[in-house]
Amino acid sequence: MKITYLGHSVFLLEEGAFKAIIDPFIRGNKSCPITIENLTNLSHIFITHGHSDHIGDAVELADNSGALVVANAEIGRYLASKGVKRIHTMHIGGRHQFDFGVVKMTAAVHGSGIMEGDQVIEGGNPGGFVIEVKGTKIYHAGDTGLTYDMKLLEDEKIDIAMIPIGGNYTMDVPDAVRAVSFIKPKAVIPMHYNTFPAIEASPEEFKKKIKNAEVFILEINEMMEIDSL
Ligand code: NI
Ligand code: MN
Repeated sequence: MKITYLGHSVFLLEEGAFKAIIDPFIRGNKSCPITIENLTNLSHIFITHGHSDHIGDAVELADNSGALVVANAEIGRYLASKGVKRIHTMHIGGRHQFDFGVVKMTAAVHGSGIMEGDQVIEGGNPGGFVIEVKGTKIYHAGDTGLTYDMKLLEDEKIDIAMIPIGGNYTMDVPDAVRAVSFIKPKAVIPMHYNTFPAIEASPEEFKKKIKNAEVFILEINEMMEIDSL
């Protein structure tokens, strides 16, 4: 599988016909190196929660590509109200077999309100995803504080975990280090840092403190192949 980091919490996953984006914060994301027009061939869009830096440009991307959007039930209903046609809703703890592989939605300790003008629309519970494609298991934590629920992920045998480290809204570096000790993935990619001042953090400091997993600090727009893990 190929993983490309597009800044903040945005990742592209590619394996054959499966071309998925997670938390597609493109237009408002100054660090995102590509435009919406570059993303017309998506097969799937995963949304961890309703905040604008995660739901991002999902409506437009779904429109352009016809991708299937995977999100919780509340966000799914919101997207349907915006005209998104292909939506698969699931919820925390649920697992589903898709044509490309298996997805489990995991708990996150955070908010999920969808801001629209001065309105906040109920966005259900925030979550994360365990996505298994051809024997490779990815965990994208979404936005979350450290939670003991992460201990349950140890049994999932995660190959690669995307973990927020930026603090303030999510885990900071020390808590992210503890999260890795709970999850015990083979490898980790830090995310959700340095996009804006409130979430400044040092991925190098994070990397130095992780002893039992490989840490890949991806440059923005960097692609890695993980079949060799
Ligand atoms: Ni958030
Ligand atoms: Mn966020």
